[in-house]
Amino acid sequence: MKIKNVVVIGSGTMGSGIAAHLCNANVPVTLLDLTTEISTNARERIHKSRPPLLIDKSKINNIKVGNINDNFDVVKDADWIVEAVVERIDIKHQIYEKIFKARKDGAIVSSNTSSIPIKVLSENLTDKEKKDFCITHFFNPVRYMGLLEIVKNENNDLDKINSLKEFCEVELGKGAIVCNDTPGFLGNRVGVYAMQIAMTEAFKMKLSVEEADATFGRPMGIPKTGVFGLYDLIGIDLMADVLKSFIKELPQTDKFHIVAQEIPLVKKLIDTGYTGRKGKGGFYRINKEGGSKVLEALNLETGEYSPSKKIDVKSDKVDLNALINRGDKYGEYAWSVLSKIIKYASSLVPEITKNFNDIDEAMRLGFNWAKGPFEMLEEIGVENFFSKIDEFKGNKFLEELSKTKDEKFYGERQKYTNIETVGKVKRKAQSVDGNSSAQIYRFKDHNIVEFTTKANALDYDSMDALKKATDKPLIIINESMQFSAGVNLTYTMDFADKGDFKSIEKFIKYFQDTCKHLKYSKYPVISAPSGLTLGGGFEVLVQSNFVASHTNIVIGLVETIVGLIPAGGGCKEMLARWSETKEAKKDPNYAPLKVFDIIGYGKTATSPVEAVPMKYLRPEDKTIMNRNSLLEVSKKIINENKNFTPTEELKFNLPGESVRDEMNKILEKLYNDKVILDHGVEVAKELAFVLSGGDTTVEKTLTEDDLFKLELDAFMRLIETKKTQERIKHTLATGKPLVN
Ligand code: NAI
Repeated sequence: MKIKNVVVIGSGTMGSGIAAHLCNANVPVTLLDLTTEISTNARERIHKSRPPLLIDKSKINNIKVGNINDNFDVVKDADWIVEAVVERIDIKHQIYEKIFKARKDGAIVSSNTSSIPIKVLSENLTDKEKKDFCITHFFNPVRYMGLLEIVKNENNDLDKINSLKEFCEVELGKGAIVCNDTPGFLGNRVGVYAMQIAMTEAFKMKLSVEEADATFGRPMGIPKTGVFGLYDLIGIDLMADVLKSFIKELPQTDKFHIVAQEIPLVKKLIDTGYTGRKGKGGFYRINKEGGSKVLEALNLETGEYSPSKKIDVKSDKVDLNALINRGDKYGEYAWSVLSKIIKYASSLVPEITKNFNDIDEAMRLGFNWAKGPFEMLEEIGVENFFSKIDEFKGNKFLEELSKTKDEKFYGERQKYTNIETVGKVKRKAQSVDGNSSAQIYRFKDHNIVEFTTKANALDYDSMDALKKATDKPLIIINESMQFSAGVNLTYTMDFADKGDFKSIEKFIKYFQDTCKHLKYSKYPVISAPSGLTLGGGFEVLVQSNFVASHTNIVIGLVETIVGLIPAGGGCKEMLARWSETKEAKKDPNYAPLKVFDIIGYGKTATSPVEAVPMKYLRPEDKTIMNRNSLLEVSKKIINENKNFTPTEELKFNLPGESVRDEMNKILEKLYNDKVILDHGVEVAKELAFVLSGGDTTVEKTLTEDDLFKLELDAFMRLIETKKTQERIKHTLATGKPLVN
């Protein structure tokens, strides 16, 4: 069964997100709501959304809008009708009655409900209707969250469910996990429990909001919003509704009840409009009194706000054993929370799914955890876990494991999909090499390098791993959220603070050598990015021979924002790409000016579709909706290029001073208009010098090494300035740019 035309009913947060994502997959969709005005507004919201729900604004043309009274006959042409109206069973029942009267025979009907069991949703349907009805539970924001839970009923046509699953995997790029009809399915049942336990233990152990988030966050491989930050993001009132629904649905014996009790301070927050980021604030708030913006955190004991304190738990890497054995309050809190999550999640097997593995994958895809509870248990070690845990009576999974003590209980990863993913092959890797910044996996006919630092920031060791791995075709790919946020600025600033600029120069030189080595080594190098692909991360990609990119990327050269210029070959490669254009053949100033505009403003693209016109990506680079498929596509590229030979080295004929004059005029205007300040001019002048080719003329031919030298010298001059250092420090401390 082919899905070529979809109707989404309900154009709120989820309906509009689902419609937008169908547009991304080029599937025409009609969005219906109570009135056409509501669905038109939703279409507007999609168009303007930040981060964008669309991979390209033109995709909006795939959406038609209407209302359920005048335009309902669109349902008869749809292959799939998604219901995403308010969470009210009476309303949902009325809609199904209407849909099943109008739909064409065999069309799939699904609900996006997050809490109503399928047996209740489908109680008024005939057996024939039930054949085509299921739950498709997407996560918000739909474009960016990988998880889709599919819940079947006992009458389903399984072929149809499988073809829907395949459509959602291949066309929509989702990790589609089929699960049982139990409250909260997999992701929310375990994810919301985890949030509640992290919150209630913080209250009990008297941790501050910041301390809890600093522990139940990056050190555990959990997004840095932690628990209280995430509460604010989701909405404290919405979380209260979610908890009420769990309390209603789950039997009294379920341990969820213990952590879902109303907390007086939380109730007070909701009652006074402190519902999180969308309200007056929540556990955190921005205080604008006195003219400046101050981030404040709530004191859980007194209910008063005070300026938020940065907590450094000194954990650069996720190392669960080191964390739970610290012997301080953070270690105790981590163990208490982790052990309870593991106990709860394992107590739900096989009730919510017979594959414990699916729970882990739901936590990765739905909550962006690096590991789910069972893989955390594996990392802690079975023997170790049982030596620390108090009791687990009645928990069949743990009782069994305590008998077998099988450290290798985990087995395969990602059983929900047939795709050969990085996650699966990593476990089967034959021999492993690596260092503290990257891991090398060796296979018979290719290597894989996975960066492993925070946001995959690059340093000397990352380069070392890349260089070592070019003895076979190489795929640079990773499971964590970002491909690479660029060069590790903390690492660079540590040298600068000591006045050790020689070491910075050595690192940048090695970065350049490695990228050149990637580009011209005997075997093909493929970069397979997803997420942030910025600065140095982009330079690795642009000097790979092939690219297989996920549709969710943020790509670009952003160095100027921190007072630097790209010095790992970014200027060079962008010049080369723009020099190939028709316009550049006629006008030697064309390419340098174009690249000056792109790098000067630190422009980024938020999808491959946006990246191609800027030439961050080439039209021939592969674009893939499903992140899981990046490895398979990369391997296919290797197979198709058995006789690979690297390209010839690039040559450049650049105009030198004449184009710099034009660039200076642009800068003068920006300075006079106060768009840039003194240091902005200095950085841009260094960029201009590199992009113009330095002291050269069009007649003179420059090599790639000449360009590398220009980049390196300009970079070194800038990093030695106080104002660039101030920019870097500011960005490291606040995550925001400094204009100076
Ligand atoms: P929402 O409140 O943002 O949107 C609901 C939309 O349904 C509104 O535009 C409303 O006008 C429309 N509507 C109400 N009655 C209607 C009717 N009779 N016919 C047509 N449209 C009607 O709600 P949201 O958050 O988008 O939730 C929709 C569904 O998705 C719910 O079942 C919810 O449980 C589920 N869900 C929500 C998630 C979230 O993060 N918000 C996540 C996953 C599932």
